[in-house]
Amino acid sequence: MIKGVRGAPDILPDEVGRWQALETMTRDILDRYGYAEIRTPLFERTELFVRGIGEGTDIVEKEMYTFQDRGGESLTLRPEATASLMRAYAEHRLAAKSSLVKLYLIGPMFRHERPQSGRFRQFHQVDVEAVGSPGPAVDVEILALLHHLLEAWGLPDTPLHLNSIGDRQCRPAYREALVAFLRERQEMLCADCHVRLEKNPLRVLDCKQPRCQEAARGAPTLTESLCGPCQEHFDAVRRLLDGLRIGYEVNPRLVRGLDYYTRTTFEFINPGLGAQNAVAGGGRYDGLVEELGGPPTPSIGFAVGEERILASLALREQGAVSAGATGVYVATVGEAVYAKALALTQDLRRRGLRAGVDLEQRSLKGQMRQANRDGYRFVVILGSDEIARGQAVVKDLATGEQVEVRLEGVGEYLRQVPEREMA
Ligand code: HAM
Repeated sequence: MIKGVRGAPDILPDEVGRWQALETMTRDILDRYGYAEIRTPLFERTELFVRGIGEGTDIVEKEMYTFQDRGGESLTLRPEATASLMRAYAEHRLAAKSSLVKLYLIGPMFRHERPQSGRFRQFHQVDVEAVGSPGPAVDVEILALLHHLLEAWGLPDTPLHLNSIGDRQCRPAYREALVAFLRERQEMLCADCHVRLEKNPLRVLDCKQPRCQEAARGAPTLTESLCGPCQEHFDAVRRLLDGLRIGYEVNPRLVRGLDYYTRTTFEFINPGLGAQNAVAGGGRYDGLVEELGGPPTPSIGFAVGEERILASLALREQGAVSAGATGVYVATVGEAVYAKALALTQDLRRRGLRAGVDLEQRSLKGQMRQANRDGYRFVVILGSDEIARGQAVVKDLATGEQVEVRLEGVGEYLRQVPEREMA
């Protein structure tokens, strides 16, 4: 039998409920903050990611699913969403609608990484971007939004790591100082970091190899070398976060794996997840749209790894994201009442309720088991005695409570149950 591809897991029917609950909750909160959904293609011209994410990055050098299509064009499955969103933003002139455009995208991303716990080749992100404003207020609203999302999902105390990696003004001098420092310790660096030292020295600070971390100990940090305007921006972000009582730790080693970042960068880390512990990451990218050939467009955003959120919740065995039992299952005793049961089920569905009925002539016990398995909250039991009296029994599987209700009144009765228990 042909198997699925390693690192590209199926999401099976009994797991889908948690994904849907996560995404429904997320869309609701994003809507409250004024974000509009956008959907871009799963593949783009390869050049978009090479220019956007940066040639020296691991993603572009080692991880992209790149292929030539039948017309000979080089295309790539999106490894992330920011470059695609900025392409769409510039191409469709979304700036004309508003000076600050708030967009989000939920969907799969593709990176050819070595699969391990929490690291997949097809994974899913909630990507959120606030496009067009340079001010620290936008940085703070974005962080407050992410903080709010984590709280709503049931992960309220996930630590926030914050940094500023400067801009085109202050980074070149810093880069020189860092390279000078690392050259003195070059023999300690791994093969990848030798290349990084030439192409992208900041990434050495982020290498997970113990020898490289040792070599980078005591290296100058960008946080100490920011130019005046970057320092002011960072101070303002920190002040506003303090005002909102959002806790954070300044982590000067947080450099992120994509080249487009400027100034504010951040990650939310769940240490319980092991090596792949970033549940969300992002930052400001004031030069990206220009890099892609568009107008200057200061922006900031983040992406959340949905697998890592669900894994974090599974570790806690709780959290707000669970697919609670909903809807109603119509169970029958005896064949004679079957036509009534079908009619009642159809009626309940028309009234907007999730409703199921036995299609396989199971025993009552078998039907009750099925109702539980399918995640129904209520069971309506129809027997010929009840029907003769024009009644039905409604059982709440969550509480075990059981009441008799007039047959014509079943839909109305169930409608009075709070919507969240039925929808
Ligand atoms: P990123 O840090 O590469 O940033 O990815 C964001 C999140 O996606 C990570 O924190 C992690 O939760 C999840 N993730 C990344 N790679 C994998 C993987 N192989 N398997 C499972 N989960 C993964 C970005 O993608 C930027 N586009 C974020 C951004 C948006 N910056 C500004 N706007």
